[in-house]
Amino acid sequence: MKKIEVTIGLLLLILTQSSYAKLPKSISICSRNEVKLSDCIINSVKELQPKLASGRLDDEFIVPALEPLMLDNIKMERGQEFKASFTNINVKGPSNFIIEKLRANLDNTTFDFIITIPKLEFVGKYTLKIKILLLDISGKGDMDGSFENSRARVKMQAKKYQKNGETYIKFDLFNIKIQVGKNKINLKNLFNGDPNLGRIGNQFINENSELFLAEIIPGLEKNLAEIFTKTANEIVENASFDEMFPNN
Ligand SMILES: *[C@@H]1O[C@H](CO)[C@@H](O)[C@H](O)[C@H]1NC(C)=O
Ligand SMILES: *[C@@H]1O[C@H](CO)[C@@H](O)[C@H](O)[C@H]1NC(C)=O
Repeated sequence: MKKIEVTIGLLLLILTQSSYAKLPKSISICSRNEVKLSDCIINSVKELQPKLASGRLDDEFIVPALEPLMLDNIKMERGQEFKASFTNINVKGPSNFIIEKLRANLDNTTFDFIITIPKLEFVGKYTLKIKILLLDISGKGDMDGSFENSRARVKMQAKKYQKNGETYIKFDLFNIKIQVGKNKINLKNLFNGDPNLGRIGNQFINENSELFLAEIIPGLEKNLAEIFTKTANEIVENASFDEMFPNN
């Protein structure tokens, strides 16, 4: 009896080991000889988009959901002039991204995307103590807001490496640059909840949003780069380069 159990255990172990998802089944593959490689990749990403939203790429392959996107911490500190931290941020809308342009190069495994996102809506918590122009603004509480027509340039560069005699790829930290179009932010409880000062503070921030966003966006870009690089590397971790871009 013991022996059978051990054998079954071993068999299960072997079965589960070999059923490790390689590429998620929902990803359509592009041949490396595809004349319009960029178009093929764009289509493949489009098909994957609803799955990226939920994070369930197939029944076994689960990555962090894009909808809503959860960011845990964006911190910004520049001397005494600008100290801000945003936590528990929940963003709706990122999965509706539109790829405007892609330049893919398989020789040096670089993928440069330009995407636009029609609307992002966020809620979260903030703590800040900043000086914009000459006005001191401080507070701590809930926040919400929206970004419209955001545009991002995403540079992805992967390195090839060998594992069990096959070539695999791993991405370096993505380089993400974001431009925000129309935007709105509402910080509740500014100045300990003083309603008049709170209104003035919010109005001031919104009227000078380029100055405010210029301080925030680098932290946001870094945070997004870390999340997306990690997800991309999970997706490519167990799929060889030949499986991803077959030579046929
Ligand atoms: C990759 O190759 C393309 C085409 O030759 C070139 O334009 C691009 O600058 C290269 N990128 C890197 C990071 O080497
Ligand atoms: C890749 O395979 C290893 C075992 O071979 C496994 O531990 C790991 O979870 C797999 N990665 C993904 C993202 O499936």
